[in-house]
Amino acid sequence: MNVLLTGGAGYIGSHTAFALRQTGFTPIVLDDLSQGRKSAVKYGPFVLGDVGDAAGVRALCATYRPVALIHFAAFIEVGESVAHPGLYMDNNFNKSVRLFDAARACGVDKVVFSSTAAVYGAPESSAPIRETHPLKPINPYGESKLKAETYLRAVEGLRSVTLRYFNAAGAAPLAEAIGEAHEPETHLIPNAVLAGLGLKPAIKLFGTDYPTPDGTAVRDYVHVMDLAAAHVAALRYLLADGATDVCNLGTGRGVSVREVIDAAEKTLGRPVPVVEEPRRAGDPSHLVADVSRAKERLDWQPQVMLSQIVESAAAWHGSAMYSQRQIK
Ligand SMILES: NC(=O)c1ccc[n+]([C@@H]2O[C@H](COP(=O)([O-])OP(=O)(O)OC[C@H]3O[C@@H](n4cnc5c(N)ncnc54)[C@H](O)[C@@H]3O)[C@@H](O)[C@H]2O)c1
Repeated sequence: MNVLLTGGAGYIGSHTAFALRQTGFTPIVLDDLSQGRKSAVKYGPFVLGDVGDAAGVRALCATYRPVALIHFAAFIEVGESVAHPGLYMDNNFNKSVRLFDAARACGVDKVVFSSTAAVYGAPESSAPIRETHPLKPINPYGESKLKAETYLRAVEGLRSVTLRYFNAAGAAPLAEAIGEAHEPETHLIPNAVLAGLGLKPAIKLFGTDYPTPDGTAVRDYVHVMDLAAAHVAALRYLLADGATDVCNLGTGRGVSVREVIDAAEKTLGRPVPVVEEPRRAGDPSHLVADVSRAKERLDWQPQVMLSQIVESAAAWHGSAMYSQRQIK
């Protein structure tokens, strides 16, 4: 069965393509390579194009007849979204509208959508966040994703599962030669590993006076192959006539910035240089998912915990494949 996978040349998309292939689906990747790498598309056909090009999407659907759409393609940098909100509204919302409409017109009526914890904005408490938490994004990135989510649920005749990820990290086994390669890289785990490997001078630790056990911010890191498995589970759920739903994806376990740094140092056997900085505006003390709904609806459970997440990231970022990532 063919599945249309937008953003499949990127980080989470390429890992999901691998998981789809392993479970008997064929991912048809649509990506404009604004971020991803063609070399990461290895589990099915590649179509170079923009998700906002409705005619292109219709042509792709006519050729490959996908049974469902998994929509990853987006811009993902919060800071860039604050500087260029129009760019984010256009790429993440307007183009998603055109994509959903074009797919629907071609008879593709099942959609799995990549959303984010950023739709919740500042959490009301330090407790794990449920899907019923108020939706109040505090930056244009979160706003653009929330608008796309809302539109998707409003399209008549479409059934969808929206997946709100917390922090994705780690990589597939090295033999697959895929991994995280954002430009610029702003995420903590890759940056801690890169600093420990001497490939970046140091990481910035923003805030050491949070109301957490060690004073640093607590987040929920989920392994990218666990995320990929959740997409396969959501696809199967929709193919089995499951109703439209929204699920958080994380581990349900909070980990502090210091714990991540300690794990990176232990894995690499060398120190991670750190520069302490004040808290950043808008960064809450805790952002942890309540994942009980994904377990219940999708029969999905995260399998990989922090030490293995960091180990797989260290293997990838220390490899020659990562150092050649600029080669598209
Ligand atoms: N990385 C995380 O921790 C994280 C957390 C929460 C949510 N998400 C969501 O997951 C999705 C994937 O994130 P990622 O980390 O893999 O990002 P990524 O940048 O590695 O991948 C995104 C891919 O989409 C492509 N793309 C962007 N705009 C496009 C367009 N208009 N047409 C065609 N292709 C386009 C890029 O070229 C890239 O290959 C995004 O929707 C993001 O919002 C990511």
